[in-house]
Amino acid sequence: MTPTAGSPIGVFDSGAGGLSVLRAIRARLPNESTLYFGDQQHVPYGLRAMEQIQRLSETIARFLLARDVKIVVIACNTASAAALKFLRDKFPHVRFVGMEPAVKPAAERTRTGKVGVLATPATFQGELYASVIGRFANGVELYQSACEGLVQQIERGDLTGNETRRILHDALKPMAAKQVDVVVLGCTHYPFVIPLIQEIAGADVQVIDPAPAVARQVERLLEADRLKNASAALGTAEFFTSGDPSAFSDLLSLLLGETSAVKQARWSADLQTLSARNAY
Ligand code: DGL
Repeated sequence: MTPTAGSPIGVFDSGAGGLSVLRAIRARLPNESTLYFGDQQHVPYGLRAMEQIQRLSETIARFLLARDVKIVVIACNTASAAALKFLRDKFPHVRFVGMEPAVKPAAERTRTGKVGVLATPATFQGELYASVIGRFANGVELYQSACEGLVQQIERGDLTGNETRRILHDALKPMAAKQVDVVVLGCTHYPFVIPLIQEIAGADVQVIDPAPAVARQVERLLEADRLKNASAALGTAEFFTSGDPSAFSDLLSLLLGETSAVKQARWSADLQTLSARNAY
């Protein structure tokens, strides 16, 4: 099938984090339909080997492409770090939009010359992060934290509890002591705890959520490919998880304030296919 302007935008993440990117895409492009896949069976990706993330990402990309998506948004810094280049090589005719920690705007905005980056261990280890630093850090000092356990807390829907607070406190207080004045969210789960981050870091610290910039990039690419939907009707949103659909549905209402049916997609034992019931 060849995608048309009416085809959906495919978006995936290890779990519910990519919903922060989906939210930005839908705010900017309300007429576009979207198809979201959260790999909750394998979340967190941040502790997995690069090769495994590549295999998972390849199968997810096939799953989305089989549903005729016109562009694939890797709404996950970890999967982008591990697999963006790999996917572009595997599927040379497909448009992929990936994510990288927003070090460039942070380096432009900091006044103290000190920037904090919150991401996952796999993102920090990847070549993409090293290249982002090389290209954009520009003499700015970077302080990293992998916020161990934070993705799982957010997957549980715990945005304000004691453990979530402790993880963020441990990440942000040492940064504050170094006069960090800009914090980059290098994991798509973290925008859902911005109020807590802001409370702990202080109102003067700027927090950068890259999702709006990703949505702008999606729009630019759709325009360049003449695939932007010209219809005046609101787009539809379809959701799949490899985890528990009803738990994902609860997260959807907590994180996006939205009630929607969620479909189950199941992995084959060899991770080569994903199949969904009731899917078209
Ligand atoms: N939300 C993802 C990211 O941007 C993945 C987190 C994880 O699964 O470890 O990094």
